[in-house]
Amino acid sequence: MSPLLLLLACKGKDPPPDDDSETTTDSGTTDPGTDTATSIPRPTLSSPAEAKDLDPADDIVHIELTAAPASFEIGGQKVDGYAYNGQVPGPTIRAKRGDTLIVDLQNDLDTDTTIHWHGVHVPWAMDGVTWMSEPVAAGASFRYEYTLDQSGTYWYHPHFDTEQQVDLGLYGVLIVEEPDEPAADEELVVVFDSWAEAGDMDHFHLEGTHLTWTTNGLVEPVFQPEAGRSVRLRALNASNTGYVRLAWDGMRQIASDQGLLPELSEPDDVVLSPGDRADFEVLVGPDPIEIRAEPHSLQGGATYGEATPLFDIEATTADAPPSPLGWPFSGAKPSADPPHTDIVYTFQGDAATGTWLMNGEVFPDVTIESVDLDDTAIIEVRNVSPSEHPFHLHGHAFEVLSLGGVPPETQTIEDTINIPIQSWARLRLVADNPGDWMAHCHILPHAEDGMMTVLRVE
Ligand code: C2O
Ligand code: CU
Repeated sequence: MSPLLLLLACKGKDPPPDDDSETTTDSGTTDPGTDTATSIPRPTLSSPAEAKDLDPADDIVHIELTAAPASFEIGGQKVDGYAYNGQVPGPTIRAKRGDTLIVDLQNDLDTDTTIHWHGVHVPWAMDGVTWMSEPVAAGASFRYEYTLDQSGTYWYHPHFDTEQQVDLGLYGVLIVEEPDEPAADEELVVVFDSWAEAGDMDHFHLEGTHLTWTTNGLVEPVFQPEAGRSVRLRALNASNTGYVRLAWDGMRQIASDQGLLPELSEPDDVVLSPGDRADFEVLVGPDPIEIRAEPHSLQGGATYGEATPLFDIEATTADAPPSPLGWPFSGAKPSADPPHTDIVYTFQGDAATGTWLMNGEVFPDVTIESVDLDDTAIIEVRNVSPSEHPFHLHGHAFEVLSLGGVPPETQTIEDTINIPIQSWARLRLVADNPGDWMAHCHILPHAEDGMMTVLRVE
């Protein structure tokens, strides 16, 4: 075996505190992310480097992404993984609503791949799935091209051998700006992921497995803005299975999967299931803010235990926090929940056997449900399994009419929604995008095991 530990991004539910005895580093020094953080300079946090727009036209964003094997370090340990343009997370793509996005993918992996645009209203041929179409072969290239008609914080990742390829580092953020939204003094894009030693990996029983959580690939970094500035924090959970329950004092959530919320939310915590995004307004003052993942169990949500440090915000000056920006919140109320259901999806399965299904079926042996183009469909997603599952639908966003029978206070538009155990969500879908769209659990090993189906819009 290689003397270097191979790390793989992993599957986590309750990440244990940093008490690992197993991890070693090449140099023999202690991992700077652990309890010696005070004696070793902590890494500085910044947003992932942005992709270069090769087209001078104002309304065309043209970028190149090369997927290739890459070696990088996580918490001092070498990882033989994959990267887009050599960076993990991949380059952030920034565009604005109305732009045409052109992405030339060069596949320099030794295996097939694709890019899926998570949460984006793409034409079906651009969706990066291999249900009835071919992946991009090793050595080949493919042009993704579409017009952006939404705004918000999205992401991209392969949808071929997804569990493995995302795990190894293929993911990045796609920001679509809304022309009317105010600009914060700065933006910080953060991508959370969890990593575990290969060999320790077990999809369903992670107790005792040491997981290292990273923010933009760094263990417990520090973000050092000047105080008195406003920061738009765009957060993505790109972990295969790990949930991040974020909580800090004075949390101000302004956006979710599909852009600005109808009003400011000041929640106690925000759960980002795998694939989920949220934007926050951070009004930086002199007091440090510790961003933590509070303990969260797939068997029942918030739980006891120690929080996992993700990163800290420590201002370099002592100015008072700025005033909030005037976000153009719509105040929209939820749509009425009609007394009928068009489609039921039931998450079933069992960690003990590793069987994960939807409606009693294992992908690709599934019954295809159909909705007529431009019809509105009411979808009920039920979870009767002993694990939480994030439901994700391709090509569309949906409105959440209720979760566990409780309607949201304001209109809630998502593309990924966590369904707790013994709970259910009622979703309103305007089926305005023709195609065969994947509907699946975004815990990637569950999807890989078959917890995935197809919704046909025609
Ligand atoms: Cu982000 Cu079908 O996935
Ligand atoms: Cu699942």
